[in-house]
Parts: sequence; C-alpha cells; structure tokens
Amino acid sequence: MSFKEKIDFQRLPKHIAVIMDGNGRWAQQKGQHRVFGHQKGVDSVRQISEAAAELGIQYLTLYAFSTENWNRPKEEVDALMELLVHTIHAETETLHKNNIRLHTIGNTDSLPESCRRELNDAVERTSRNTRMTLVLALSYSSRWEIMEATKRIAQDSVAGKIDLNTLSADQFSTYLTTAAYPDPELLIRTSGEHRVSNYLLWQIAYAEFYFTETLWPDFGREAFYEAIVDYQSRERRFGKTSAQIVTDPA
Ligand code: FPP
Repeated sequence: MSFKEKIDFQRLPKHIAVIMDGNGRWAQQKGQHRVFGHQKGVDSVRQISEAAAELGIQYLTLYAFSTENWNRPKEEVDALMELLVHTIHAETETLHKNNIRLHTIGNTDSLPESCRRELNDAVERTSRNTRMTLVLALSYSSRWEIMEATKRIAQDSVAGKIDLNTLSADQFSTYLTTAAYPDPELLIRTSGEHRVSNYLLWQIAYAEFYFTETLWPDFGREAFYEAIVDYQSRERRFGKTSAQIVTDPA
C-alpha cells in the first residue's frame, strides 16, 4: 500500500520546506564525482515538485544553494550554477504547463549573470500561475535575511513610516523575503543530518521537523508521501495543552 493512500487531504500542510542534503555522499558511495550526485538530485527536485503540486500543496520551498555553499571548491560551485541554469531552462515550460509559479528567495544578486537572466525569465513566464508556488532558496541564509529585514525596519523607522513601539511579529514578517507565503508547517531534511543550517529560522518557529536517513537523490515520491503521513500523525499544540487542542482545535 502506498503512503499516498494514508494521506488525509483535509489536513495537508500549505507550505513544505525542504533541505535537500546528501547529493555528494550519494555520488561518493557510488565511486562518482560529487557533481553526479547534484545531477541526480535534480530528478528528485522534479519528482517532489510534481508530487507536491498533485497533492495540492500550495508552497514548496527548496534549499538549493546556501550562502555558505559559496565556500565549496570553485569547480563544484561552477558546476552547481551551470546545473541550475540548465535545469531552469529545461524545466520552465513544464512548470508553466502545470500551472506552477517559480519564485526565488536569497541574495540572487550574487549569482552569475546567466543564472540571474534564466531565473528572471522563468519567474516572469510563470508569474500568473496559481496551482503551486515553487520557491528556490538561492544564495540564501536566514541570518542574512533577518539582518536585511532589520536594516529596512530601522530605515523605515527613521523615515517615520513605522512605529517601533507597536511593531508586531506579523509586521516584522512582511520585511522578510518570504512575506508573501504562510510559514511552513513541515520542514524535511534528508541524509540523516539533524540541523537547520541557517534556513528559514524565523519562519519555522512552529514547523514540525522530519528527518530521514535517505540521501536526496534517493528521496522520491513515496518518501515524500511518508513524510506527510508522519507529519499528520503529530499533534500541533502551538504552546497549548493536549486537552485544549481536543476541545478547542482553533
Ligand atoms: C546538498 O547536498 C545539496 C546541495 C548543496 C545542492 C542542491 C542542488 C540540487 C539538488 C541540484 C540543483 C537544484 C535545482 C533546484 C535545479 P551536499 O552536496 O551537501 O551533499 P553531502 O552532504 O553529501 O556532501
């Protein structure tokens, strides 16, 4: 029996965030170069994006390249950028036909020109799509994002546009790159690492974490369905007691 049949479609998370990890180890285990793992990782990106859209997930955010990833050997960084350009170019029409909107978060100004151009075209081409938003976190780090938000809040305060005494968490969220999305309810990390790695630190305040030993290139549809079933087995209390949740689920 597929895990898909166990999914309660009335209680799907609206937003799933994923840390795609283990491409390098997957390749090395097979005696291949790390870049081969990233290439295989693209197949998983495709499968999970399709599966999420088919289920009715509204937002899927994938950690494709962190600020810290710039410190990898130049050869690997160049290969990842090339793979990104190639993949976006090859997949944009499929995304569009499937009514999926592509967005990016992160310091995309630091990406190579070819990459920025390809991404801008894809974001523009898919901008009116409504079925699901696929967000690629690129040159992203949460501390960078929170710092940027804080600087803009300070500027707006000096300009008299906002009142710091009444600044709320909701208002703070509007300064983040994720302002247009609800917070993820589920965070998946593959490859057995139990870390958050500077990813969506503000936004995952109440997310359920799902860690799996599976390496990203082996993470397919069934593994994704299993993560959602596991998420649905949890009781989300938001600081309340279990008894309160039973009598007052709101
Ligand atoms: C982590 O594995 C993965 C990355 C740093 C890059 C993820 C990129 C892709 C899946 C391909 C391109 C993506 C898109 C959206 C087109 P790792 O290299 O850290 O693996 P390791 O921990 O085993 O070394």
